[in-house]
Amino acid sequence: MKKINVAVAGLGRIGKIHLKNLCRNFSDVQVVAVMDLLDESKTIADQFNIPVFVKDFDQLLAVPELDAVVICSPTDTHADYVVKAANAGKQIFCEKPLDLSLDRVKQVLETVKGAGVKLMLGFNRRFDPEFKKIRQLVLDDAVGDVQIVKITSRDPGPPPVSYVKVSGGMFLDMTIHDFDMARYISGKAVKEVYAKGAVMVDPEIGKVGDVDTAIITLTFEDGSMAVIDNCRKAVYGYDQRLEVFGSKGMAQAENNFPNNHKLYTKDGISGDLPLNFFLERYDASYNQEMAEFIDALVSGGEVPVDGNDGLLSIAIGLAAKKSMVENRPVTLTEIL
Ligand SMILES: NC(=O)c1ccc[n+]([C@@H]2O[C@H](COP(=O)([O-])OP(=O)(O)OC[C@H]3O[C@@H](n4cnc5c(N)ncnc54)[C@H](O)[C@@H]3O)[C@@H](O)[C@H]2O)c1
Repeated sequence: MKKINVAVAGLGRIGKIHLKNLCRNFSDVQVVAVMDLLDESKTIADQFNIPVFVKDFDQLLAVPELDAVVICSPTDTHADYVVKAANAGKQIFCEKPLDLSLDRVKQVLETVKGAGVKLMLGFNRRFDPEFKKIRQLVLDDAVGDVQIVKITSRDPGPPPVSYVKVSGGMFLDMTIHDFDMARYISGKAVKEVYAKGAVMVDPEIGKVGDVDTAIITLTFEDGSMAVIDNCRKAVYGYDQRLEVFGSKGMAQAENNFPNNHKLYTKDGISGDLPLNFFLERYDASYNQEMAEFIDALVSGGEVPVDGNDGLLSIAIGLAAKKSMVENRPVTLTEIL
């Protein structure tokens, strides 16, 4: 069988993960080229025996017989690269978010549609084994009618202020995953967003106009709700928990730990801290999302997370920003 020829753009934290998975775990994939702006990234290409390393996206697209691109470059490059790849007829996997402007996202999605190529967004948490199980329990009606979704999502530490400045703010950079999870887990459309935010961790984050701590309430179309609790710093590590409460019961996913042993003494019970950050905690999910992208390319079927999912997560993020600034609930119809 002919292999799928894939190229990866951007070899930073997330690009390296996708490159490793594509090279090691899929027999029907061949990574034929990679791209990054930094000279030192060539060593990563060499490490994985990638024959072509370029510093320009047009050159990457010009690689002969290229089928698909995996875009892992910084957020402000996503829209341009997706448009170029779509116009070149390539299948596309793009990291979140697609862009920080809803108008731009709409234009990009039009181009993708016109080109007739697939576009999958990197909302990896949908592919986490624990969260997938919770979604299945909801689909199986094990918790009954969903009334409340609770998402706790706290990072072990804040990113540098230089990153915060260009990230689009916490809602579009970090909470965007939780917005997507609230939609995915409930299977419902969000109608209204009410967000409160504060600077509790790093005053420098406040100085560049962002928050580091927030509570966001989402109201779904049927009146049921989700509450998301975010902080850029949890001293005990990466805190990623999920709960769905419904008419028949409750389903819960706890944190993942490096091991399960505990020490019980007269002073109390102790164990290891949760897996420290996203590269470890969501390792399995990154592989599974790529597996499902490749499956869609092989079978010609639909990708499991599409451009519209990307658009809605950004719309909810923008509604959250507006809600916090104006201190009132904001409906999605005000944004879309
Ligand atoms: N799904 C997730 O869990 C997840 C996690 C982290 C990051 N992300 C997203 O992935 C993207 C990259 O984040 P990161 O943390 O890997 O960043 P990073 O800073 O670690 O890496 C970015 C890489 O892109 C390269 N680069 C810079 N400009 C480029 C350009 N114009 N073209 C190609 N490459 C370029 C940089 O040299 C660097 O190697 C961001 O959009 C981020 O939101 C997603």
